[in-house]
Amino acid sequence: MAGATNFSKKCIVFVTGASKGIGQTIAVESARQVNQDSVFVLLARSESGLDKTKQLILEIDKSLTVLTYKVDLSKPDLNLYNDIFKQVLKSIDSSGIEIGLIFHNAAHVGVLKDSTELSDLQVWREYYDLNLFSAVLLNNAFIKHIRPIAPQLVIVNISSLAGKVPFANSAMYGSGKAARELFFKVLALEHKNIIVLNYSPGPVQTDMFDMVCDVAQSDEVRSTFQEIRANTVLTTNQTVSKLLEVLEKGDFKSGDTVDYFDRVNA
Ligand SMILES: NC(=O)c1ccc[n+]([C@@H]2O[C@H](COP(=O)([O-])OP(=O)(O)OC[C@H]3O[C@@H](n4cnc5c(N)ncnc54)[C@H](OP(=O)(O)O)[C@@H]3O)[C@@H](O)[C@H]2O)c1
Repeated sequence: MAGATNFSKKCIVFVTGASKGIGQTIAVESARQVNQDSVFVLLARSESGLDKTKQLILEIDKSLTVLTYKVDLSKPDLNLYNDIFKQVLKSIDSSGIEIGLIFHNAAHVGVLKDSTELSDLQVWREYYDLNLFSAVLLNNAFIKHIRPIAPQLVIVNISSLAGKVPFANSAMYGSGKAARELFFKVLALEHKNIIVLNYSPGPVQTDMFDMVCDVAQSDEVRSTFQEIRANTVLTTNQTVSKLLEVLEKGDFKSGDTVDYFDRVNA
């Protein structure tokens, strides 16, 4: 088993895509659990969204440290990521940090069209830049800079059922998720001292979900998602509380993929 993540210790928590949706809820809900000397580092493009998340965290506990970085992760840049980690470590008191966590959550749903229509190489490259390459580079920078200050590292990749099961109009999104998931499985195999979780959040009411409902090319895909939205879609709080519970219990093998619905009756 991967081992439990004890949020009551002093943690440094990085969340990508923390400006809204699942990422915002990950940041806010983990703020309820961590030691009050903990540090949050939030990344996304929307400054106003990041400020909102910061405000929500500070409403929970004013003594938490929250740093925000407006960054476009569709332009992977190892130097920039290294600089961010250096700036973070310069501006905080890192003594006593016991756990370094990163939630690779930022993503875009890509072009929701029939696979035979996905022939624009530039669009594919931009998609993989955001959804795979930036997560890989940021993760490498995270390990390099945070390993020396945190005895335990915890890495969470927010994945998707679409990375396992083929859904129509999801060739771009699903193939990116599948590649990203396998990357993190290999990492887990190579680094037994790091806790790695691939978490598949289920269908969750966010802007991304609305986008599938509204712009997927196939009428059937749109109507299936609209039906889920009307009936069974999850809130960000439902899926994030399950994710935090899985991390706290640690009853998964590092690198495994846990889906929200695997643990619904657990
Ligand atoms: N919602 C679902 O049903 C569902 C299901 C399965 C998996 N997921 C996964 O859950 C994760 C979160 O999705 P969500 O539903 O919460 O989507 P969302 O509400 O659209 O949020 C996406 C987040 O990613 C950030 N982001 C997007 N492009 C970015 C870029 N170029 N640079 C930096 N940040 C960027 C956005 O911030 P800015 O726009 O401010 O940059 C935002 O904070 C994703 O990995 C998604 O694939 C979602």
